Amino acid sequence: MSQYTTYPRALSVLTLVALASVVFASALATQAVIAADKPKSPVKLSKKVQTVIERVERQCRERPVYMIGPEKAKRLAELVRQKKPRLVVECGTALGYSGLWIASQLDANGAGKLVTIEIEPSRSREAKQNFAEAGLADYVEAKVGNAREVVREIDGPIDFVFIDCGYSNYLPCLTGLEDELADGAIIVADNVGIGASGMKDYLDHVRKKYRSRTEWFELDLPWAKRDAMEVSVVDSSAGD
Ligand SMILES: C[S@@+](CC[C@H](N)C(=O)[O-])C[C@H]1O[C@@H](n2cnc3c(N)ncnc32)[C@H](O)[C@@H]1O
Repeated sequence: MSQYTTYPRALSVLTLVALASVVFASALATQAVIAADKPKSPVKLSKKVQTVIERVERQCRERPVYMIGPEKAKRLAELVRQKKPRLVVECGTALGYSGLWIASQLDANGAGKLVTIEIEPSRSREAKQNFAEAGLADYVEAKVGNAREVVREIDGPIDFVFIDCGYSNYLPCLTGLEDELADGAIIVADNVGIGASGMKDYLDHVRKKYRSRTEWFELDLPWAKRDAMEVSVVDSSAGD
């Protein structure tokens, strides 16, 4: 092999190493920003709310009803606590497990409303009973219907959205309420790890349009041991 072929090859190896270093450094920088965003104070629950949450969690595990689980729920609640939203929209109520965590933080903040949407009437009824038992009914409006359509009836400004209602529904649910989102609104989507391929359209959309990041969690659920939530922030100053 002549020196004329070896030299360009060495150059291209060097270029590859340099490129890899840049990618690695920017990945580290992203991690640092995400870590810095993490809240310092864990959420607190009243005894009454905790008792209902624990019972609903047990029921969901036994039947099973796929709920978010305590690891992700704590993070969701922290975000609600920090954001202090006036209006939260949840797509996918189920038995109200995640809704109980959200409403508990509205209660802790002393203000706010959760509009939660469920397609199965019997689940919505059960959730309503759970909200009432936890003493959180005043913070929650439980709507029955297809979230893709119901979200279009909600007047904003919406400060916080939680989407957890079937992967193919994520994007239509978001686009249905997007015009009502407040600047600075937080959008959280569940199952972004285990359901990534089924919600690719949603993930492409939020990662292009918003400041968006993926947060991973180790879980102890019968149906999943590791999963992620996508946390997206509406930032009008960032432009399209
Ligand atoms: C994963 S569960 C929600 C769990 C809940 N967020 C929690 O963590 O406690 C998904 C729920 O969405 C409901 N669902 C599915 N498609 C829906 C739709 N198009 N509109 C409203 N709800 C829907 C299902 O009936 C189910 O109860």
